[in-house]
Amino acid sequence: MGTVFKNGTIITASDMFIADLLVEGEIITQMGRDIASDGHAVVDCTGKYLMPGGIDVHTHLDLPFGETYSNDDFDTGHKAAAFGGTTSHIDFVIQPKGGSLMDGLVKWRKKAELAQIDYGFHMTITDPRDEVLAEIPSMLDEGITTIKLLMAYKDMYMIDDNALFRCMMIAKEAGMLIMVHAENGDVEAILKPQLLAAGKTAPVYHAASRPPEIEGEAAYRAVMMSGLTGCPLYVVHMTCEPAIEAFRRGRELGYPVMAETCVQYFFMTVSEHLSAPDFEGAKYVCSPPIRTKRDHEVLWHAIQDGTLQHVSTDHCDFWWDGGIGPWREWSAAHPNGDWAAYEAQDPSYRRPGKELGMDNFAKIPNGLPGLEDRMLVMWEHGVNSGRITPMKYVEVMATNPAKIFGMYPRKGTLAIGSDADILVWDPQAEHVISAETHHMRVDYNLYEGMHIQGKPIKVYQRGKLLVDGDEWHGKNGEGQYIPRDPFAPVL
Ligand code: URP
Ligand code: ZN
Ligand code: ZN
Repeated sequence: MGTVFKNGTIITASDMFIADLLVEGEIITQMGRDIASDGHAVVDCTGKYLMPGGIDVHTHLDLPFGETYSNDDFDTGHKAAAFGGTTSHIDFVIQPKGGSLMDGLVKWRKKAELAQIDYGFHMTITDPRDEVLAEIPSMLDEGITTIKLLMAYKDMYMIDDNALFRCMMIAKEAGMLIMVHAENGDVEAILKPQLLAAGKTAPVYHAASRPPEIEGEAAYRAVMMSGLTGCPLYVVHMTCEPAIEAFRRGRELGYPVMAETCVQYFFMTVSEHLSAPDFEGAKYVCSPPIRTKRDHEVLWHAIQDGTLQHVSTDHCDFWWDGGIGPWREWSAAHPNGDWAAYEAQDPSYRRPGKELGMDNFAKIPNGLPGLEDRMLVMWEHGVNSGRITPMKYVEVMATNPAKIFGMYPRKGTLAIGSDADILVWDPQAEHVISAETHHMRVDYNLYEGMHIQGKPIKVYQRGKLLVDGDEWHGKNGEGQYIPRDPFAPVL
């Protein structure tokens, strides 16, 4: 017995039409008018939209960052994602310094044992020794087609141009994609101590330590290397005009370059959010930093004209108030105890968060929450505001990421043979975003109080109902790993 979704308005990247859709087992087996019920369960979708589950290709669940780890893991993060209409994501494995790529993958596989939605992995190279670069093509056997390199975070994750260029040559041969975090980390490493030495320690100076120029310069460098090597490049979290201009130049030249921005970069500003008093600005510390209203317009335009292919979240959440005091007391009394042991004692005990940088912006863990909010906020401010059509919405939130990252047409569309990852979306439903009701494990929401019209009222993954109104039906271990195909198209 299957399930017939009756009389919904199906939205794909190319069409919007009223039809029925039949799911048998985990996949869509029929689409058309008047599909017979034939003993199948029936979901009446009259007046509702049917869309493919959202895909977010940029998340950091349980990420080690400085003295702490990001809050949401493959349990809480997955539940939050699904409540917001995201049914698949790709997380970044981190190669441990001195270790191999496989060492990193083993760790992330362990984290993913909790999975409740489907997920893939990118591989982040942090220690590009010769033997590590030689390991790159073997990642294809693990279903990993993407290598991430950070041009920033000196002395933590940053690699140099030599490594970037060599990785591109290897990836090109293997049919893989290189992803970069584009900021000039050497320049940032000079600006940051200068600001601190001048007593500029508040969160707002995070932006001054990473100005738009260093993003534009690094993006241009990576784009040119992509042109030289012919290696497909995907620039993550683009934020500002200099970077978009550099990237557009690459596309004009016909280089195989693609890029995303993240939801927060359409909304937050240095002057309002990062400058907020009483350490509130720390809530908005991420890299690259949030920018200006002018940049927001540049980004919307870049989505509209197809310069950018995807809107992700870069979800990497930290408590605003992680309770550093009790943690410090406990860790002093338990010299061999780590925060995981501390947290395990009581669910109210929090790992350190943004307060780590109370007196020094450079110690604020970088990253923002957003996995649950992405589909909702982009619907309200993209579709309801008239900036993009519902089809364009599906394209940038689901179809393009599935294509670019080798998951299409299994994921990213509603078609016969595709996984039945389906959102039943009520365009009339009203919702107000709040930290009091969200499912992310974090004590604030970037979009607090934002009114949204339209949300998923039922969320299915591979035919299984995960979210039904406010009810959760997922289970740990039911999320599946998505092995991805090499030689994916350059869009
Ligand atoms: O601030 C951010 N973006 N934190 C997560 C790591 C990264 O750079 O993507
Ligand atoms: Zn980054
Ligand atoms: Zn990131």
